[in-house]
Amino acid sequence: MGDAERADETLIPCFERMAPDEWFVGKDYLHVLSNYQLDVDNIMDLSHIDYLHSGTLGSPGSESAETEVRQEGDTVYSLRLVRNERLSPELEKRNGVEPGSRFDRWLDVRWEPPGVMELIVGRAPTGNPEPRNVGNAMYFFHLFTPESETTTHYWFAVSKHKSGGEAAKEAVSSDIQFLKKPFETEDLPMLEAQQRTMGCDADFWELKPVLLSVDGPGVRARRVLDALIKAEQEAAEVGQ
Ligand SMILES: [Fe+2]
Repeated sequence: MGDAERADETLIPCFERMAPDEWFVGKDYLHVLSNYQLDVDNIMDLSHIDYLHSGTLGSPGSESAETEVRQEGDTVYSLRLVRNERLSPELEKRNGVEPGSRFDRWLDVRWEPPGVMELIVGRAPTGNPEPRNVGNAMYFFHLFTPESETTTHYWFAVSKHKSGGEAAKEAVSSDIQFLKKPFETEDLPMLEAQQRTMGCDADFWELKPVLLSVDGPGVRARRVLDALIKAEQEAAEVGQ
């Protein structure tokens, strides 16, 4: 999609935690039959992990998260903190934690237009008023490139600092394999069903979507993108 002549590498945002000289980066790819903005909506609302990924990435209780949407320039953050949470048995096993342990877990997304995102997932033993200051974090990346109005190239990645040595290298490889299954078998069918329901050429806003509070970050990102697209189109018209 778009005018190849206008591609400008200097506009690619910096994700320093994907720099291969300092970080082990596990990567994989999926082709999605949905518009990239639907894919962005999905990551901007991570309450979905309790519904779509209840057996793997989610856990009961995430619905009562403390959330915040923040905008700095054209960057939008979707911040989410769940207190006193028990991880799913699958995550307890993968992370080597005692079954039944309680954590405060945060899932903080940074979105850069048009659809590249860093997700920081961290956790700390429950009880600290500022868990983000004391816990450990992991880094994930969701990079959506529009292929057409209704299809998207979806690159996703996980990184760990090289100071973690061989164990970190093995972990990124294991994590990316683990993540691909829920992405492919749980997110994609939902996204593609959304696209089918909307049809091929419907305008998102003209469909008058019912917005819930969890949609705040996704809507903010859409507004930023709408403004950027409008400005680019107006500049192109002036230049003609
Ligand atoms: Fe998901």
